[in-house]
Amino acid sequence: MDSTSGIKTPYYLYDLDLLRKTLDRARQASAQHGYHIHYAIKANHNPIITGIINDYGFGIDCVSGNEVMEALHRGFPAEEIVYAGVGKSDDEIRQALENDIFCFNVESVEELQVIEEIASEMNRPARVAVRVNPGVEAHTHKYITTGLDENKFGIHPSQLQVALDLCSQSQWLHFMGLHFHIGSQITSLQPYIELCNRVNEIWEEFAISSLGATILNMGGGLGVNYDDPEGNPVPDFGSFFNAIAENLKVPDHIQVHFELGRSLVAQCGKLIAKVLYTKKGVDKEFAITDAGMTELMRPALYQAKHQIENLSNTGEIHTYDVVGPVCESSDVFGKAVQLPITRRGDLLAIKSCGAYAESMMLRYNMRARARSYFLDSGEFAKYDLSEKISRKLV
Ligand code: LLP
Repeated sequence: MDSTSGIKTPYYLYDLDLLRKTLDRARQASAQHGYHIHYAIKANHNPIITGIINDYGFGIDCVSGNEVMEALHRGFPAEEIVYAGVGKSDDEIRQALENDIFCFNVESVEELQVIEEIASEMNRPARVAVRVNPGVEAHTHKYITTGLDENKFGIHPSQLQVALDLCSQSQWLHFMGLHFHIGSQITSLQPYIELCNRVNEIWEEFAISSLGATILNMGGGLGVNYDDPEGNPVPDFGSFFNAIAENLKVPDHIQVHFELGRSLVAQCGKLIAKVLYTKKGVDKEFAITDAGMTELMRPALYQAKHQIENLSNTGEIHTYDVVGPVCESSDVFGKAVQLPITRRGDLLAIKSCGAYAESMMLRYNMRARARSYFLDSGEFAKYDLSEKISRKLV
């Protein structure tokens, strides 16, 4: 009997061997340059995934108080937590200070003032890195571009001196260095080379080393190959870190950090869905699945394309619009997708769903929460997700 039979669709299926291989490569490639990686937990906070990432010694990058608490709960040390976000609430700031996280990535002068106030109230100095918006075009979808003037993230270089002065005048702000993040799903190294050049200029112009900086955080954004996930299961971390090393000119004692999300986890996950109906349209045929934008909202939100495979059939090729059941016209996984003839009951695998699928799951239309399952050493494995440390169930 198939080990997956009896499992309710839709569900996320993670290949933990591929995850480990990816983490291994990223760790090796970064270690060659002495770089430090914080996993961007927003990409996927599934506890089995974060547990494995913690085992590999990565730090963590959070964007909410709940992410900080989740990271601590999963065993990430406080001194490995960086915390970004344009809208940190007072409670979230207080909680992060209470837990003595490594560093706030501060996104405005106004936020810096609030952190200072709360730190002084609590009698606890705050370590801060200032996030600078460098005006570098990431050449990705506009909804995942973050480094331009029109974006809400970071501090414009014209306001940087004010932020730096605030840090040096305050006994409650401990200035750690600068933070950058220009966007996500960046598939060329060129934007990173431009980012390095901007960082070099800003570092020099504002004499950042003389302010006692110890870190430079280059953010995340390295893309994956959604068109050919099998051909490119592991991103080319080597070329990425080499390009940074060749172009960055900050002093050697500055520790360079990264916040990688998608590149570490995207390819290890799939969304498995069942075909409920194949329906004849006017000039097309629809394959209607039991997964929808509620389990994978990337196509609806960013016109993202994910490869789709029919796991049940291999016959003659037909063309389908693969759609979900949600009451939104944008609930479409792919238009004119070529699939072997597809029937009610067939299982489809929607690929590259390890990042920003499960973590962006919605309950719209009162949809049930999809569960997650794992392939470990090639075997289908169920884990009890309520356990702090992952435990394999027999
Ligand atoms: N650091 C910061 C400050 C970020 O805002 C992000 C992502 C990352 C790191 C990690 O970026 P990554 O290495 O994963 O590209 N939901 C969208 C992606 C949103 C990314 C938000 N910020 C998607 O599905 O494409």
